[in-house]
Amino acid sequence: MNDKVTVSTLRKYKAEGKKITALTAYDYPTAKILDECGVDMLLVGDSLGMVVLGYDSTIPVTMEDMVHHTKAVTRATQRAFVIADMPFMSYNISKENALRNAARLIAEGGAQSIKLEGGIEVAETVIAIVSAGIPVVGHIGLTPQSINQLGGYKVQGRDEEKASKLKKDAKSLEDAGICALVLECVPMELAKDITESISIPTIGIGAGPYCDGQILVTHDMLGFTQGHRPKFVKQYANIDKIIRDSVNNYISDIQNYLFPTIENSFTLRKKDSK
Ligand code: KIV
Repeated sequence: MNDKVTVSTLRKYKAEGKKITALTAYDYPTAKILDECGVDMLLVGDSLGMVVLGYDSTIPVTMEDMVHHTKAVTRATQRAFVIADMPFMSYNISKENALRNAARLIAEGGAQSIKLEGGIEVAETVIAIVSAGIPVVGHIGLTPQSINQLGGYKVQGRDEEKASKLKKDAKSLEDAGICALVLECVPMELAKDITESISIPTIGIGAGPYCDGQILVTHDMLGFTQGHRPKFVKQYANIDKIIRDSVNNYISDIQNYLFPTIENSFTLRKKDSK
């Protein structure tokens, strides 16, 4: 087995210009495959709410959901650095509440780090969690937990004023001690600028090619989500079709007496057999 990916590995990759690979994971069998393929980071994202639990946003996802799915992912993972998302309102009420919830994802979930959304406004919370010995991943740009404030899933930081705010957010999160920063749906020039101006790795999703690493929602890249596919997603498989074809064949086999056959069946023991 390759060595476990740690915060030092991530820093080393950035220094060496080696791209960091990341995907989301929510369950044991998928996490096991992704880990064995050598993905560096597995994020138990609160996108769980949309791609696995059937909600239309990440907002209904609870701490119980996150702990439950993080446990499944960490049981499957040997090498990857596992990050668990802090769900909506689990870090905004008070620092104490944020610390308690972050600790649950590490102690009960088994994750190596937690991720939370926001810039300067969450810096004090980040300092408290990092001071407790928990690595924190930041997340700026399109922050889905603020979807009602952002008014939709849109590219962020396109004009100078908003780009400048995001640069300040990145710097303040770096100063607060984050170990990596997710940049979601921002112009590639801005992602490049941020990546070159901070010492910690940036992980892009819809942020162009200049980030230190890339992440996608696994269900999107495997073609296991229905409906609109964002422009930044590259689809590597069509799992939806594979499942539909297989299930249709199963139904047809049963209806046409083709399954089960003798090969799939058991027989009575013969009287004289041992
Ligand atoms: O929840 C999630 O999947 C995420 C990624 C989009 C980075 O936060």
